[in-house]
Amino acid sequence: MICVLVMAAGEAWESPALADLETRPGVVVLKRCVDVDDLLAAVSSGQADVAVVSLDAPGLDPASVSHLRRHGVRPVAVTTSASSDVDVRERAQRLGVAAVVGSGELSTLPDVVVVVEDAADTGVRPADPAPDRPGSDLTPAASATEGGRVVAVWGPAGAPGRTTVATHVACELAGRDTDVVLADLDPYGGAVAQQLGILDEVSGLLSAARLAAAGHLGERLPSVCRGMGDHLAVVTGLPRADRWREVRAAQVEQLLERSRDLGHVVVDTGFCLEDDTASDFGGRPGRNALTLTALEQADEIVVVGAADPVGLARLARGLVDLRAQAYAAPVRVVVNRMRPSIGWSEKEIAGMVEGFTRAAGLHFLPEDRPGLDRALVAGLPVRDVGDSALGQALATLTDAVFPESVTPEERRVRRSSRARRRPTRRK
Ligand SMILES: Nc1ncnc2c1ncn2[C@@H]1O[C@H](COP(=O)(O)OP(=O)(O)O)[C@@H](O)[C@H]1O
Ligand SMILES: [Mg+2]
Repeated sequence: MICVLVMAAGEAWESPALADLETRPGVVVLKRCVDVDDLLAAVSSGQADVAVVSLDAPGLDPASVSHLRRHGVRPVAVTTSASSDVDVRERAQRLGVAAVVGSGELSTLPDVVVVVEDAADTGVRPADPAPDRPGSDLTPAASATEGGRVVAVWGPAGAPGRTTVATHVACELAGRDTDVVLADLDPYGGAVAQQLGILDEVSGLLSAARLAAAGHLGERLPSVCRGMGDHLAVVTGLPRADRWREVRAAQVEQLLERSRDLGHVVVDTGFCLEDDTASDFGGRPGRNALTLTALEQADEIVVVGAADPVGLARLARGLVDLRAQAYAAPVRVVVNRMRPSIGWSEKEIAGMVEGFTRAAGLHFLPEDRPGLDRALVAGLPVRDVGDSALGQALATLTDAVFPESVTPEERRVRRSSRARRRPTRRK
């Protein structure tokens, strides 16, 4: 049984389309939606398979179409023009809708609905209206195999060092001549720009969200990134914490998918994993959708915890919460700000972490306030303000997260310099 939502936005094709769909065996119309908000709320119920929408409905943007797909609902657009019309094809392409039924073809609508749903079952996409144009809606499966990997840096509340780790891993990678996009998706206010000394009041994230809504992110993503050197592109975060409302989850999805085309993607996220969808009218994603979307899209999740009693308790809780979300990506744990005075050895902490998650790796970063202060004042990563244990540990972490970025020679040099440093660390 194929369950269909219809959103005709007051157009005259609604009645004949409903009649055709309802008489088709195996097809049932679940709901007539009055507008895009109504449609988006209806798909959240998880019951629909296909949405038949007016191509010209006010508020129908690529983000709404991504929202449909995220809930497993395939879009079919109906237009009052001919489906071969160049404007129609362009608009459908921009929205990421492959199946378009034009005027005079309405009787084919039930067939198109069945074909689109069958294609979804078999994983085959129906033919794109103009597959060679930029801005088309890549399926996650396609993008995951092509392009760079998305690494989301997450951690519980209490400023354990998410931004520090995300920024430094991205800078380290760029320093190895590997293209990387560093995206600041913290819904509680961006901090990547400040860490890197970017004094730019234009928020890359807000610009990207606006471009995604207009369907132009594909070709214009580089224009919202701040270039730092030849290999690092920074999407700066929210200029004020209350502006999270201007970014929708579907736009974040697009940003990450497009960023993969430019290189590896390192994402700085917020701390909260609560799904606050219901708090927002119409069932649209809430504030934490930025973080949750990044974690859903991630190929790897780096969890950062602070090495003190409160920080470790929060890390343990955070690992449990993260496991409850059942993300597909493997989890790597970073315990930050290690220092002898906390009274726990690396071995003891490793035992604690093992009790809460099957981590893909466990890393320790030493406390280095003076080094980070020097880096922050200079607006540079620590690696650029002198040799330090923290810089070395961040390089080793980058080796593990992006193993293809390190040559065997570099790995050997780092291993021997780590061995030289070891006596200064508490074991
Ligand atoms: N290894 C470290 N040694 C010393 N200070 C650190 C270390 N890691 C992070 N910090 C400091 O802790 C504070 C919070 O770090 P930040 O990365 O902004 O946390 P989060 O993004 O998790 O809120 C910053 O002032 C940062 O410089
Ligand atoms: Mg931060």
